Amino acid sequence: MTLLKSLSLTVAGVLFTVGMAQAAPSAAISAKFGVCFACHGVDGHAILPTYPNLAGQNKDYLVQTLREFRDGKRPNDVMGPMAKPLSNNDIDEVAMYFADIKPGKK
Ligand code: HEC
Repeated sequence: MTLLKSLSLTVAGVLFTVGMAQAAPSAAISAKFGVCFACHGVDGHAILPTYPNLAGQNKDYLVQTLREFRDGKRPNDVMGPMAKPLSNNDIDEVAMYFADIKPGKK
């Protein structure tokens, strides 16, 4: 299965489960970071065990590591391209979103 195909299947699954999530993200957050939810889950609990959970992670750590992915200091084939288009503000926003979620809901 191509990455794109598996992503779109995952997005469909995410959209289906959004209704069940405790606090659904705002439309603005979903529009901007829906692609992240495809792997890390809309509730920050990854959809596959090979992806990291982000729910409740320290905000400063999330900011730092996303900047590192973006700037090539933490080279990663998956996350490099994901972080590339993010501004510092985007990174703050998505870091706050995941940091605010209570972990262990699953
Ligand atoms: C195709 C699946 C996929 C998508 C989409 C994706 N990620 Fe990731 N993400 C991963 C994987 C896999 C890793 C682990 C990378 C590694 O090996 O270091 C990761 C790592 C991370 C980490 C570091 C976690 C840690 O514990 O160090 C953060 C933060 C993160 N992703 C945020 C995001 C954000 C924000 C987006 C959307 C802009 C996003 N991811 C989109 C798969 C994905």
